[in-house]
Order: sequence, then C-alpha cells, then structure tokens
Amino acid sequence: MFISIEGIDGSGKTSLSSKLSEALSKQGHRVFLTKEPTDKMHRNHALERSREPIDAMKLFFEFTIDRMTHQSEIAEKISQGYIVISDRYIYSSFAYQGAVLDKHFGDLKRTIEWMECVSEIIKIRPDVNIILDIDPKRSMERLTHRSSFGGFEEAEFLEKVRRYYQDIKRNNDVVIDATLPRETVLSMALDAVRSLMPL
Ligand code: TYD
Repeated sequence: MFISIEGIDGSGKTSLSSKLSEALSKQGHRVFLTKEPTDKMHRNHALERSREPIDAMKLFFEFTIDRMTHQSEIAEKISQGYIVISDRYIYSSFAYQGAVLDKHFGDLKRTIEWMECVSEIIKIRPDVNIILDIDPKRSMERLTHRSSFGGFEEAEFLEKVRRYYQDIKRNNDVVIDATLPRETVLSMALDAVRSLMPL
C-alpha cells in the first residue's frame, strides 16, 4: 500500500507521517517512511521563491525527475510488502507549481492537463492522498520559528496552493482538518488506511 501525506507548509505533514508510521508499525505492519523532495534532489531556493511560470516549469520538471527515481524505490518496497508513507509526492508538484503555472496556461483545467501529461512517466501513484487542510494564517503561525521561513511560506500563495489541493483531489482521497487535535488527526488517518486494507 502507498500513502502520500499532503498539505501546505506548516500543516503538520511531517509529524503525522511519523506518528502514522509508528502506529502502523506497532500494529505489526512493515512501514517504509519516505519524503519528497528526496535527499538526492538539489534544491534551488531562488527558483522556489520565484512566482514566474518559467521557473515553476523548471521546478515541475526537477521534482518529476526526482520522483522518477523515487518511484522505483517505492515500487520495490511495495513489492516487499511494506506500507509506504511519503511525506509529499505528486500532489505537491500539482499544488505548488500548478499555483504558479496557471499564470502561463490561463486556467486550472489546462494547467492540470499539462502537469498530467508531463507526469505520465510517474506510474506509481498513491492508493490514497491524505491532505491536511489548514488556513495559511494558522499554518504560518506554526512556522515562524523555522529559520527557512519565507519563500513559499506566504499566506497569499499558500492560500492558492490550498485551493489547488482542493481542486486536484480525487474521490478516494481524504481531507483532514489539520486544526483538530493531533490524536484526532492521527486516528482519522488510521481509519483511512484501514479502510484500504483487505478484510
Ligand atoms: P521541505 O524542506 O521538505 O519542507 P516541508 O517540511 O514543508 O515539506 O520542502 C518542501 C518544499 O518544497 C515545500 O515548500 C513544498 C515544495 N515542493 C514543491 O513545490 N513541489 C514538489 O513537488 C515538492 C515535493 C515539494
């Protein structure tokens, strides 16, 4: 099984990913916890901060290429019987880069079509995306202590990213209110995972 944990910066993805991994391991499952961008990806912070569609396009390709190798590792773990949890995956590119790329494509539908087309090389897709939803004003409060604060972490931009998440989500994805107590968020995520397990 493959689960991706998604959401804007400061939504609590990383904390949920490790808590979920811990809880599933305790239940006897073998869990492989991973993340994107992977450690192999060379991060270009100047590009990340840019709101220019050309830079978002470069980033979209970079994240997709990073995902190309990441998906092989994920596929191997799935075949070995692991539950794979990734802190960010394909939806992060669609939401973050999509929110800038639509200036170029003019509308959301065409932006998503282009991103889907480029992403055809990504064959390994999550069984479920768990999206942590939060108002950027709240998530930014949680981020002020981070030294990397800035860049992507601007309320207006994150609001757009948040809307993108809402637009790209599919029926079997799960949206959780990230302002709920941590234990509630975890138990909702566990319910989502359990519902995918064979009886
Ligand atoms: P990271 O340092 O992992 O922070 P976080 O803990 O918030 O996930 O950096 C991830 C940043 O990269 C985050 O701001 C989102 C961005 N990102 C994209 O823009 N596109 C992508 O495809 C991915 C995977 C991440």
